[in-house]
Amino acid sequence: MSKVLSVLKKGALAIAVVATVSAPVAARAETEEEIAKEMATLFRAARAVISKHQAHINDPNVGDKGLSSDAVIAQAKENYKTAAGHDLALDPATKTGEYLQAELDAIAAVMKEAQPLINEQGKGFKGFLPAVFAGRVAAATSEKLKGKAEIKLTAPKEYVRNRANRPDDWESNVIESKFKDAGWTKDAGFSEATQKDGKAAFRFILPEYYGEGCLSCHGEPKGESDITGGAKEGGKLGDLGGAISVTIYQ
Ligand code: HEC
Repeated sequence: MSKVLSVLKKGALAIAVVATVSAPVAARAETEEEIAKEMATLFRAARAVISKHQAHINDPNVGDKGLSSDAVIAQAKENYKTAAGHDLALDPATKTGEYLQAELDAIAAVMKEAQPLINEQGKGFKGFLPAVFAGRVAAATSEKLKGKAEIKLTAPKEYVRNRANRPDDWESNVIESKFKDAGWTKDAGFSEATQKDGKAAFRFILPEYYGEGCLSCHGEPKGESDITGGAKEGGKLGDLGGAISVTIYQ
């Protein structure tokens, strides 16, 4: 009896010690801002994989492009590490871990579905672009995290090609009144605890600018057809071209 008690006590003590040691890590509250930034960083890291391989994807002479779900995820994790300065934290007990895993699952699903298209031999331009990939990943992630979080690729109203990417009022307001303001610090995001669809929500939005590589499709002359058959926006180097928007419901 006393032996059992002492074992129990030892057990309880061991648990207490473990709890004390691990508490500072496990209990550190992740802020919504941190979660949103991590999601946006992974989103960009994955899209960069598609950008990097764009010419390869468009090559009609190559069949298998080697861009399986696993390959894209491995490269996205590398890009993420470079951008964030640390490995992806995928602890499922944290919101960050749960939401980033949902994003990875969305990337895997989008790449799995894209295999027949991107591996088709004899076909050059396939319409599989970074923004198309990003739009699909955003939709799939938001679907997986329904009611908890959303991510979206959007753009200034006048630049939107895909209606699914249209900015909502909050996004449009930040884009027009902050990101386009001459005094706004380039690359600085904006966040606000607000409401979305009647629910308390933390919102974060990050501006993106046209680089040289964007202008063959989004540049001048405005209205001219680009390689995709779409009309060029008439954008100039460094113009605000888009934004990544993340919502974390409370
Ligand atoms: C080969 C042509 C091409 C290039 C190069 C290109 N884009 Fe796009 N972009 C498109 C097309 C086509 C869409 C519409 C995608 C869709 O239908 O979902 C698009 C969509 C977007 C969107 C989403 C908003 C919308 O219009 O629906 C953003 C933001 C964007 N592009 C930014 C960029 C940036 C920044 C770059 C350079 C880093 C870039 N794009 C390079 C063709 C291109």
